[in-house]
Amino acid sequence: MTTDPYTTTAPQIAASILSADFSKLGSEIDDVLAGGADFLHLDVMDGHLVPNISFGPAIIKSARPGTKAYFDAHLMIDEPLRYAEAHVKAGAQNITFHVEAVQDVAAAARQIRKLGCRVGVTLKPGTPVEKIFPALEAVDLILIMSVEPGFGGQKFMPDMLAKVREVRKRIGPNQRIEIDGGIHNETIKAARDAGVDWFVIGSAIFDHPDRAAAIAELRAKMG
Ligand code: DX5
Ligand code: ZN
Repeated sequence: MTTDPYTTTAPQIAASILSADFSKLGSEIDDVLAGGADFLHLDVMDGHLVPNISFGPAIIKSARPGTKAYFDAHLMIDEPLRYAEAHVKAGAQNITFHVEAVQDVAAAARQIRKLGCRVGVTLKPGTPVEKIFPALEAVDLILIMSVEPGFGGQKFMPDMLAKVREVRKRIGPNQRIEIDGGIHNETIKAARDAGVDWFVIGSAIFDHPDRAAAIAELRAKMG
């Protein structure tokens, strides 16, 4: 477990709780962290920006006291500037918003940073990577979606690795690249070779009966 993944350049595995059994979220979180996950990825969906509804600040607030793990919130919502503060107050330490949800991506990043959290920007597979370039200096994290956002368990889109390479050329040593969607034993190495630092993994961890074994194998396959 890493309490602040920005303090290391070692590759990180972020367990996406979207695939967890929410009837026992606390023990699911303990299981994947004890099993070797570095931090937690929190998928917030509003049923507008993406065709699904997941959870919001209330769930994050209830999970916060139970762990020191870093909370990386992925806001798949139409109004990130309106709701970012509630997520930070609930315990999220990194707030990532979608470029498709804002007018001025750099201004949005600066506004969210004023909340005292780290800031990330992300984009859907169909959005050209150039759309986030104006914000590169204003963010800590660039999250490349490798599936259409909205659901876990989808097929990895290898074409998205071209975006990873383009971003890698343009960012500094204090910034990180995260990939999200369809990461498992057969896809993780290609993502690592393209320049990814942080790997969001949902179904490949939570659907496995032995989460520690699943995480160890993913780390070994990373190369
Ligand atoms: C999808 C979410 C992902 C998802 C990943 O919109 O942003 O974080 O939970 O799940 P897997 O690893 O199963 O693709
Ligand atoms: Zn996500």
